[in-house]
Amino acid sequence: MISLIEPANSWRVDMTASHKPLRQTARHFLDLDQFDTGILRRVLDLGHACRRGEDVGGTRQPLAGCTLALLFEKPSTRTRVSFEVGMRQLGGDVVVLDRDAIQLSRGETLADTARVLSRYVDAIMLRAGPATHLHEMAHYASVPVINGLTHDSHPCQVMADLLTFEHHRGSLAGGVVAWCGDGNNVAASWIQAAPHFGFRMRLACPEVLRPREEVVAWARLHGADITVTTDPREAVRGADCVVTDTWSSMGLENESRPELLRPYQVNAGLMALAHPQALFMHCLPAHRGEEVTDEVIDGPQSVVWDEAENRLHVQKGILVWCLRRAS
Ligand code: CP
Repeated sequence: MISLIEPANSWRVDMTASHKPLRQTARHFLDLDQFDTGILRRVLDLGHACRRGEDVGGTRQPLAGCTLALLFEKPSTRTRVSFEVGMRQLGGDVVVLDRDAIQLSRGETLADTARVLSRYVDAIMLRAGPATHLHEMAHYASVPVINGLTHDSHPCQVMADLLTFEHHRGSLAGGVVAWCGDGNNVAASWIQAAPHFGFRMRLACPEVLRPREEVVAWARLHGADITVTTDPREAVRGADCVVTDTWSSMGLENESRPELLRPYQVNAGLMALAHPQALFMHCLPAHRGEEVTDEVIDGPQSVVWDEAENRLHVQKGILVWCLRRAS
């Protein structure tokens, strides 16, 4: 259980970002290392309730009259559709904004965009490139900002993955999650989730694609057992959940290292080393034949379609929490 000294969900000052400390009036959903464990548990439980089709926030349409802006600097299928459908299912409305179609592309600042959007909508979901863009948006918005992925993290995805594991297998506490491949943004959010939910993480990554040291250090400081190795077999052996991702993250395609990542492919041979009841996860989109083989992603241990579905359910929980329709 992590209880932060700062107020719940306060935003930490990233000294690499060009901003001042956040005015904490809105309930942002930025990164998993900024939350009390109890809040994340609450959000996950709201996601489970949504998955079961129950009312959350005491009514079928708790977000009636609310509008969510979905702002994309990068392409998306799951994030876009799940937020849009989820918001509508909760009774709200959405405005979808692609960066190239708004004045951001012609030099209007993120700060001014945040201020303006805050006058029109009740919450903003941003899919950004650099994490500094998200921080800038959160600093200047007076409405909740939700992290829909940055180069550094993907918390909505990992919340959906946690929901998926719990749905199939129950609590992950005491279990082992094995990550194979690039120690990327999704890996970072998994690491940040580990101390909250009490699972161990074993990450197998090429030396030059290890997860960021400060992310690992934070999780260890908060009691998580995190192993980083270059050996995928060491990571996967006996694991309860095996996770991988594409070899080139969005917007970082020039940094793709297929020759380095090939030994980290999740195939039947590697999956056989995991616990017989282990689940296979991938946030999608998958590059079949690269980071994962068809027989694994289409196999009986794969829950990738449930992960995609659970984006919808858990994000409904996030929206209800951000917009204070649940404590
Ligand atoms: N997993 C995920 O975030 O998918 P999209 O890029 O399609 O939104």
